[in-house]
Amino acid sequence: MTKTLIIANWKCNPVSVVEAKNLFKSADGVVRNAKNVEVVICSPFVYLSELKNGPKDQGSGVALGAQDCFWEQKGAYTGEVSPVMLKNLGCKYVIVGHSERRKYFNETNESVNKKIKAAFEAGLKPIFCVGEKHDEKEIIKEVLEKQLFEGLAGVSASKISDLIIAYEPVWAISSEEGEYCSPEYAFSANLIIKKFLFKEYDKTVADKARIIYGGSVDGKDAGLYIKEGKLAGVLVGKASLNAMEFGKIIKSMDAISS
Ligand code: PGA
Repeated sequence: MTKTLIIANWKCNPVSVVEAKNLFKSADGVVRNAKNVEVVICSPFVYLSELKNGPKDQGSGVALGAQDCFWEQKGAYTGEVSPVMLKNLGCKYVIVGHSERRKYFNETNESVNKKIKAAFEAGLKPIFCVGEKHDEKEIIKEVLEKQLFEGLAGVSASKISDLIIAYEPVWAISSEEGEYCSPEYAFSANLIIKKFLFKEYDKTVADKARIIYGGSVDGKDAGLYIKEGKLAGVLVGKASLNAMEFGKIIKSMDAISS
């Protein structure tokens, strides 16, 4: 049985390695008693090796992910971090195309596409973020389809089983308006994505694709996106920085996924 995915996106937090290790350890402790969830922590680059050398080496149940990567594996690209470097460090996942990167760092569908391909090439599982802005709610289908079409250009059907698609309505993310996105709304976005995959690939790809929800998820509502939204997991920002709240999310998702 495929486990329910819970992905923590720490963003540019916390500010010290001690805090990072504590947060990781706390999530790890909860995950050890869970059977039905796969938990991934996407930490800032600078903490990844510490987290790997810490609890992970003692058989941690938490997988590691990064929040971005470059589209080349190596070379003269000052300041960049490549997918193969992340893989060699023990990362399994990498977030690509988060709306904050699109907004503050001019990430485009074209650069997202190059990053997705480079992540696959290095053996990482990309977590591809898509989502409409507040003023795009009326044209959500067009917006999601364009992001998916351009982001997945040249990505073969065989790769889709290693891809996570995170539906993150920009207006629901806590750093933006943080408006409530109902599980029914998330369900309709889920259907748009599935239909796209059916049209561009085939039924098997659409049925197997792991589509998760992100946007102000907390311990109270996380399970609803699985039960009512029929999503395969959640991407958690703010709440993943609170050890108690993140623990609640893991426990509740584990209970409803059994
Ligand atoms: P949030 O962030 O849970 O703080 O809304 C989610 C995300 O941006 O990935």
